[in-house]
Amino acid sequence: MIASLSQARDFVALCDPLARRRADNARRLRTVRYPAWLIVLTTALLVPGCGGVQSALSPAGREAGRIADLFWWMTGGAIIVWLAVIGLTIYAARVQSEARNHRRDRFLIIGGGVLVPTVVLTVLLLYGLAPIPALLAPAPEGSLKIVVSGEQWWWRVRYLPPGGQPLEMANEIRLPVGEPVQFQLESPDVIHSFWIPSLAGKMDMIPGRVTYLALQPAKTGVYRGACAEYCGTSHAMMNFYVEVMEKEDFSRWLAQQAQPSQPPAETIAARGQELFLTNGCNACHTVRGTPARGVIGPDLTHVGSRLSIAAGTLPNEPDDFQRWIAHTTEVKPAVLMPAFYMLPPEDLRALATYLEGLK
Ligand code: CUA
Repeated sequence: MIASLSQARDFVALCDPLARRRADNARRLRTVRYPAWLIVLTTALLVPGCGGVQSALSPAGREAGRIADLFWWMTGGAIIVWLAVIGLTIYAARVQSEARNHRRDRFLIIGGGVLVPTVVLTVLLLYGLAPIPALLAPAPEGSLKIVVSGEQWWWRVRYLPPGGQPLEMANEIRLPVGEPVQFQLESPDVIHSFWIPSLAGKMDMIPGRVTYLALQPAKTGVYRGACAEYCGTSHAMMNFYVEVMEKEDFSRWLAQQAQPSQPPAETIAARGQELFLTNGCNACHTVRGTPARGVIGPDLTHVGSRLSIAAGTLPNEPDDFQRWIAHTTEVKPAVLMPAFYMLPPEDLRALATYLEGLK
């Protein structure tokens, strides 16, 4: 028998699965407690996320260092303001209104509500504005200049070494450590944003305009850059690696990149090159040293030497080359490059071997 209203509710909950689930959830919500150790553990797990190859909080360059300093000072200021506000809130809630001293209250309102925020915010504003001239200053005359063009969804990279020949490549940047570099940023299609968090701040790439970003890497290593402005379906797959090298290694690398591609050594790679030239790949891509002279897509002269393919989307491995060529739109939705899934597996393998061999 149902004798009370709560028994009636339990009976309805028993009959109706949705109501039962709702009642379970409500009970669980009432009993959820977050123990201190869980909060400490979560924080401990989150903190290492501040490091890595793509973190503005783990700077490896002069400009990123300035920005990280600014972030920590701003965070410190915000923590002090937050503690003061919470302290005052607790004071207001705890102390009985009759027991309050009204002169002290007025002092708190004017001091804590007007004076302190005005002083703190003015100091933080001035401190925040101070690094801007240095961050926007161009690199000294005669520095290495690199033109980067953001395209949907890859990076066209043109090195203009002082006194040397311009050199086009794609989707990877290498820099000499301790040397200032001047980036000139462009876009032929939509707005992109060029960002290497470990090395510098971000700068938009705007169609019809040229923007500039100067930086000076301080530590050798591999860092990751990304497009920081939504630019279409595969915006999240528009990344690149930046390798900061010792000066001599960099000069050697640049000289090697300036060379045309070597003729394929193996038979399978030679077959791959033939397929590359007969399947229309050459209409969009350039491979210096061969008749392939397309300029719509990335230059592939030394694609085999890069750390990733498809603009930071896949590792540079033969299997991934095959996957990319056969299923472009699955790997990178809405990409312009057509998928060559109709090619027999042995042709895909030959193409991948040829491209992988372009060191
Ligand atoms: Cu390019 Cu987002």
